[in-house]
Amino acid sequence: KTIYLKDYTPAPYLAKQVNLSFNLLPGKTIVTSEVRYVKNPVGVSSDLVLDGEEQTIVSVAKNGVPLSDYTVADGQMTIASPGDEFTLTIVSEINPEANTALEGLYQSQGTYCTQCEAEGFRRITYYQDRPDVLSVFTVRIEADAKAYPVMLSNGNLQEEGGLPDGRHYRVWHDPFPKPCYLFALVAGDLVRVADTFTTMTGRNVDLHIYVRAGDEGQCSHAMESLKKSMKWDEEVYGREYQLDLFNIVAVSDFNMGAMENTSLNVFNTALVLAHQETATDSDFMSVEGVIGHEYFHNWTGNRVTCRDWFQLSLKEGFTVFRDQEFSADLNSRAVQRIDDVNGLRRLQFPEDGSPLAHSVQPDQFIEISNFYTKTIYDKGAELIRMQHTLLGPQTFRKATDLYFDRFDGQAVTCDDFVQCMAEASGRDMTQFFRWYKQAGTPTLVASSHYDAAQQRYTLSFKQSQPETPGQTDKQPLHIPIAVGLLAADGREIVPTQVLEMTAREQSFTFDGIAAKPVPSILRGFSAPVKLETDLSDDDLRLLQVHDTDGFNKWEAGQTLALRTIQRVMADPQADISQFIADVGTLIAQGLSGQGDKALLARALSLPMIGVIGQYQPVIDPAAIDAARSSILTQIKRAHKDALAALYEANANPGEFTITPQAMGRRTLQAAVLEILTTTNGTGCAARAKAHYDAADNMTDRVTALSCLSDSTQPQRAEVFADFYTRFEKYPLVVDKWFSLQAIANREQIFDDLASLRAHPDFNIKNPNRVRSLYSAFAINNPVKFHDPSGKGYAFLRDAIIELNSINPQIAARLVTPLREWKRYTPALQAQMKAALQAVLDTPNLSGDVFEVVSKSLNG
Ligand code: ARG
Ligand code: ZN
Repeated sequence: KTIYLKDYTPAPYLAKQVNLSFNLLPGKTIVTSEVRYVKNPVGVSSDLVLDGEEQTIVSVAKNGVPLSDYTVADGQMTIASPGDEFTLTIVSEINPEANTALEGLYQSQGTYCTQCEAEGFRRITYYQDRPDVLSVFTVRIEADAKAYPVMLSNGNLQEEGGLPDGRHYRVWHDPFPKPCYLFALVAGDLVRVADTFTTMTGRNVDLHIYVRAGDEGQCSHAMESLKKSMKWDEEVYGREYQLDLFNIVAVSDFNMGAMENTSLNVFNTALVLAHQETATDSDFMSVEGVIGHEYFHNWTGNRVTCRDWFQLSLKEGFTVFRDQEFSADLNSRAVQRIDDVNGLRRLQFPEDGSPLAHSVQPDQFIEISNFYTKTIYDKGAELIRMQHTLLGPQTFRKATDLYFDRFDGQAVTCDDFVQCMAEASGRDMTQFFRWYKQAGTPTLVASSHYDAAQQRYTLSFKQSQPETPGQTDKQPLHIPIAVGLLAADGREIVPTQVLEMTAREQSFTFDGIAAKPVPSILRGFSAPVKLETDLSDDDLRLLQVHDTDGFNKWEAGQTLALRTIQRVMADPQADISQFIADVGTLIAQGLSGQGDKALLARALSLPMIGVIGQYQPVIDPAAIDAARSSILTQIKRAHKDALAALYEANANPGEFTITPQAMGRRTLQAAVLEILTTTNGTGCAARAKAHYDAADNMTDRVTALSCLSDSTQPQRAEVFADFYTRFEKYPLVVDKWFSLQAIANREQIFDDLASLRAHPDFNIKNPNRVRSLYSAFAINNPVKFHDPSGKGYAFLRDAIIELNSINPQIAARLVTPLREWKRYTPALQAQMKAALQAVLDTPNLSGDVFEVVSKSLNG
């Protein structure tokens, strides 16, 4: 059933107060919900309609009197005209132990936990499961005291005590009205790591992280990240935390990364636990970023929430922007931007070019879980970033102050947010709002003209947008284009200024320019577009060396690399000696010890196959890979000694730290090792094994394994076996062991995949393990996933069908790599389409999978 934004109407009833009581018993949980309802003065219907799924109703009472005058159909309970104000008590029975969908109340390794966003609360009790019904929750939990010593819910602990038969209870009260998607409950045998934070007004907040016994030594990075997040939100947005307690609980079975439930964040263990022995630098960065993300939701999501799920990006886009900026402030701004843009290009651009392209504020959906997308999150964040760029930091802050001030405690829309931007700045943001409504990645074509007589330089732009499902008449966007000009000697003659493009074609002139400059366009990636310029290779080489904008400096090199790859794809014998020589210059720069190592590592890395594909009219992963490998081989042959020297110069000095400098050194060494081992010969395997043997941290181990992954040399098996034996007790590391094999581009891959699938550690019910095998393969092994035999598609198809009945959200998520089938070669297209069709033909298809598969095929 399709739901439309235009059909929104206010809830018929307001929930004044919610009292929930959970009796956690083996094999069943009894939920009693007592809600005080009041007729909504602006409601349009007088029937109370409650959502409820996967539960057995035990009793219903109105004002304490049993009620039988209600109907239940299609997941909804309807009570016709129940009156202006009354208390409704519903007792129902659920079975968390049997819940494999991991929505609502379920168990992860014996711990009870919840995931209610977006529509999981209806699996717990009958309620108006929509984000614009805000209420104060009081929650009583009762369970066996020995098995479940820890029992948590939102807010403050109000009461606790013992009960007969070894049971105990706790009552939690959250004074801040919230929508039910922010409700959470946890009960289990967990250990606590504690710290405190003093807020800007001097209030003390207890910070608790709950994990399984044995994992408490891996929480300090998460705790430090939490304290940094709280401080950053005070400093940058003036936002203070309001309660006296902030809990984080880590669970192993979780559909997504984490969840921002008020004062009780529930996290995937992968985004809490971090120790040098078991977590890579990029894991450390993700933990910091996601701890920040969930904490920042306290204001952007919880205090100010969404009116309906079409507004999801109101909280997600804004919160991603906030966590990106948090990470940029704490680490390296240029590195953060490069990595974020790379992610956008690799994962959001393909979505925007697929039949599932949708706008940041969509008009319709079938299953909201399918809209937790790269577009809502990451393109949404780009939309906030553009507003930040257009307004400037001070005015943007004025606008967010206005937003929080005006809407605290309310459920609002993306329009409300942009209206605050407009009011605080005095700007008309009407045209800008089109970014929220029009799907597809725009193309921006730039050309330049220098008039020597007038000393005038002109930059001309054309914008266009592709047609996307249901949208054929796109209007021009308001695009902030950050531009700087460099002289031929590399000096910056015009520092960054933001050009505002509003027409389909528009020119901007710069006067008093003494000689033809080189433009640095779209600095910091100031808009999420595909940029085409008339810059020559020499212009790009100048930018690569001299641009003052770290992002564009890197981008110039990537554009050169892309052009080189295209040349080699067109002609394998193409002369690319200039490009190879340029790489030599970068290596020499590294050897001289100049420059930022993290940036150099990224400069030395060729664009990934997934990114390159976005610039091809028809994607042929094997052809891209062949060209890419040939270039890497030529780089290796030309610069072998210098690379070996650069590797040595960046060897592990001992003493592990996770500073940006230390991470930069490790990434640089890894980038160099990747080139040195690109040919997968005996020498390569020996080098990679030596790297593994010298490792004192997970980053270096993973680097070694990934360099050995494609190899057929004996060291490969040795190192993978050692890795497994060392870490088999650490599920998050075993996930890496699965992934590093699933991404191998080698002949035996389909046998490898079959043995991994049959491995005793594989568990189809654990989302992390499913992702470690299937998503790793389908997303990070483009060559074998798109093997002409179709075996890669078949492998994924079978998992989607199997998961359809176990965990529909995860099943639907796995369809992602097949959605873009129309972008591939005809032979691959046919096979991808057949895989999608086989899924569509599966009996009892869940709504989740049906939506993504049917839209992929017909959209
Ligand atoms: N709000 C969470 C976050 O981004 C994501 C939870 C989404 N869960 C889901 N089942 N779709 O922080
Ligand atoms: Zn979020």
